Amino acid sequence: MREYKLVVLGSGGVGKSALTVQFVQGIFVEKYDPTIEDSYRKQVEVDCQQCMLEILDTAGTVPMILVGNKCDLEDERVVGKEQGQNLARQWCNCAFLESSAKSKINVNEVIYSSVFISLWK
Ligand code: GTP
Ligand code: MG
Repeated sequence: MREYKLVVLGSGGVGKSALTVQFVQGIFVEKYDPTIEDSYRKQVEVDCQQCMLEILDTAGTVPMILVGNKCDLEDERVVGKEQGQNLARQWCNCAFLESSAKSKINVNEVIYSSVFISLWK
């Protein structure tokens, strides 16, 4: 059976969990209980095919960073730096970094900037 992994992102209290629980269990959760992290599985039929959805419901306070990895492969670049920056701005005004696991570029920055942004929020 085909599996699809979905991640529900968004600010705190906007209704990520309520939407997810309504979809998975068919009930409306009235009480606000901030999520740390929950995952749900549901089998559904799409185009006459059974498939399994795995839905990860995240905490609204997790900051987001858009990362363009493999920046060492400059000759094979398909996404421009400015394109990445614009996308990050459009999505949620989040930071954009280019990194390379191979050439050790911005490896620490990707992780530490997430932690620092969490501290500021
Ligand atoms: P975090 O887990 O903190 O990120 O929040 P969340 O985005 O998961 O929000 P949650 O689903 O817990 O909903 C927050 C509050 O809004 C709860 O009290 C819900 O009952 C309420 N709520 C969610 N969706 C709706 C909706 O469509 N209509 C109304 N009226 N209230 C909603
Ligand atoms: Mg939630």
